[in-house]
Amino acid sequence: MTIKTIGVIGAGQMGSGIAQVFAAAGFDVVMQDIKTEFCEKGLKSITSFLEKAVSKGKLTEDEKKNTLGRIKIKVKVEDLKDCDFIIEAATESVLLKLDIFKKLDEITKPDTILATNTSSISITKIAAATKRPVKVIGMHFMNPVPLMKGVEVIKGLATDDASEKIVADLIAKLGKTMVRSNDSAGFVANRVLMPMINEAVYALNEGVASREDIDNCMTACCNFPMGPLALADLIGLDTVLAILTVLHTELGDPKYRPCPMIKRYVDAGWLGRKSGRGFYQY
Ligand SMILES: NC(=O)c1ccc[n+]([C@@H]2O[C@H](COP(=O)([O-])OP(=O)(O)OC[C@H]3O[C@@H](n4cnc5c(N)ncnc54)[C@H](O)[C@@H]3O)[C@@H](O)[C@H]2O)c1
Repeated sequence: MTIKTIGVIGAGQMGSGIAQVFAAAGFDVVMQDIKTEFCEKGLKSITSFLEKAVSKGKLTEDEKKNTLGRIKIKVKVEDLKDCDFIIEAATESVLLKLDIFKKLDEITKPDTILATNTSSISITKIAAATKRPVKVIGMHFMNPVPLMKGVEVIKGLATDDASEKIVADLIAKLGKTMVRSNDSAGFVANRVLMPMINEAVYALNEGVASREDIDNCMTACCNFPMGPLALADLIGLDTVLAILTVLHTELGDPKYRPCPMIKRYVDAGWLGRKSGRGFYQY
């Protein structure tokens, strides 16, 4: 099977990053979001990333132009019908993803693999929204996509080995490293990461230390590359809350209960970097 054109659903921070790395690796990319302004915002963030790389001498002007030239933006999901491989990176919501996969199953070629970048939602559940569960797979990129090497790959109950092999080959073409996880809420990355972020927010809420001291403690004392509160702001507090809610609901353990402070911030629209304010101001 030759894969030439990649469809990316969602032009937010993950969708745009995924579109960028596939285009940089020579694939044609169709990036879709529900509004033109969201697509343009995604394209703008790709352009600014590539411009910075050119100014640092890491990329030539031609490479930048070629990468951008391979990305088309669309607002209708139907425009992805001829894509050879699709990866969904829309908002972390079960109902939304089930809807998207049902639609993708109707419009795409029957042998097209449908991957999801979900952080936490069951691949088996998403796959069951389609008539091709063997071809539905988790392909969990890390943020920021162009910089992070690892990609978590998750087979659902029905996913076949052939689909996993195609995903493994794509990850190799992107120069990234594949890590396998079974289909359990949050997989590995967020099963381990989210309780730490949640605990950091509980510590802040309980006045254990200031936000800066909590983050500095984890960087200076524990050698983390960034503090958990700054990381939550990078991920997006709406996404953090959605992931913790899936962990809490699916695993049923109170240790995953999202700190009410995260809910309050999301209610206020303080989503982190993407809205200009979270635990820090941007
Ligand atoms: N933020 C992270 O650090 C991170 C890391 C790995 C995986 N993820 C996962 O990637 C996915 C996207 O996260 P994000 O951080 O890019 O969120 P985001 O909020 O930056 O972007 C989500 C985008 O999805 C779009 N969208 C919503 N409904 C849509 C639809 N029906 N069709 C097409 N687009 C639609 C929104 O308009 C928005 O532009 C989520 O599943 C998230 O869990 C996020």
